[in-house]
Amino acid sequence: MRAITYIRYGAPDVLKLAEIEKPVPCDNEVLVKIKASTVTPMDWKFRSGNTLIARLMTGIIKPKINILGVEFSGEIEETGKDISKFKIGDMIFGRAKKAGAYAEYLCVPEKEICLNPSNASFGEAAGITFGATTALFGLTNTGNIQQGQKVLINGASGGVGLFAVQLAKFHGAKVTAVCSSTNHKMVIDSGADIVIDYMTTDFTKNGEIYDIVFDCVGKRTYSDCKKSLVKHGVYISTVLSFPLLIQMFSSSIFGRKKGKFIFSDFKPDDLLMLKDLYEKKIIKTVIDKTYSLKNIRDAHHYAEKGHVKGKVIVEI
Ligand SMILES: NC(=O)c1ccc[n+]([C@@H]2O[C@H](COP(=O)([O-])OP(=O)(O)OC[C@H]3O[C@@H](n4cnc5c(N)ncnc54)[C@H](OP(=O)(O)O)[C@@H]3O)[C@@H](O)[C@H]2O)c1
Repeated sequence: MRAITYIRYGAPDVLKLAEIEKPVPCDNEVLVKIKASTVTPMDWKFRSGNTLIARLMTGIIKPKINILGVEFSGEIEETGKDISKFKIGDMIFGRAKKAGAYAEYLCVPEKEICLNPSNASFGEAAGITFGATTALFGLTNTGNIQQGQKVLINGASGGVGLFAVQLAKFHGAKVTAVCSSTNHKMVIDSGADIVIDYMTTDFTKNGEIYDIVFDCVGKRTYSDCKKSLVKHGVYISTVLSFPLLIQMFSSSIFGRKKGKFIFSDFKPDDLLMLKDLYEKKIIKTVIDKTYSLKNIRDAHHYAEKGHVKGKVIVEI
């Protein structure tokens, strides 16, 4: 089968189109013929190896996994003998915990997949899992979001942020979205009540306070955002830094406001919930650009500039 492999860290040209063995599913796995994947920051950070955190996860000297791609959608071609919830021919989407979706075929456990929303294309279905599961985890597990709360989403136009806007709205929050002016219409169409342009306005200095400040791009620190929180408010970041680690520790002991980093996880029920919300048109994948597998380097170049509007899709 064709796959995009990489054996060393570096710029997008470390990604190579290769012919490799088609995988065979274990008893608890399905074999998926992949139709679409995406470029998430996890893919380009794991490819570049530019951060110590990425290298701690993927290998200090060289990558331990050689095929990237965490989000995917496709069709089940074969099932292991212990598979009970899916059958051959099912159209599914999922999030591969061990990556590997930049390939024509992928073997995954059934707990990492869900039937596609009936109204989603393969590209749209592939784009749901990473951002939406992270947004769901941050707002519900970590933020304990409640109806009527004021929630600020920083980085509202990106893969996580745009789903965070939609999911915060679904939970009945009053949503303030922070993004650049070119993306205002997109975030308002996704449900934001108020939009702030981060280029011209510093939301930490306008006197407004929020129950949750969800920094989906890790561009503002807990110290910056503390005065924008209500008495028991919580700051949540998707990006880990050493100062945030210290602040998480100190805020867990002292004071009522909390600073938290999330490392998003998901359960099969989360995927089912997202499928249901997608079919009810409460959430939607906004596609920025679509690339073919052979143009994956261009897709990585584009995504790592950090200005993705929604999702970057890779058609396999
Ligand atoms: N911890 C976890 O489990 C976890 C899970 C998922 C993602 N993440 C991390 O979360 C981060 C975001 O992921 P993503 O998928 O949303 O990325 P993305 O799709 O690349 O989104 C980047 C977005 O950030 C916006 N942005 C850039 N600079 C900004 C600023 N100063 N203020 C506000 N917005 C700004 C950009 O909009 P403009 O074009 O307007 O600048 C763009 O829309 C990444 O670092 C990723 O690694 C962590």
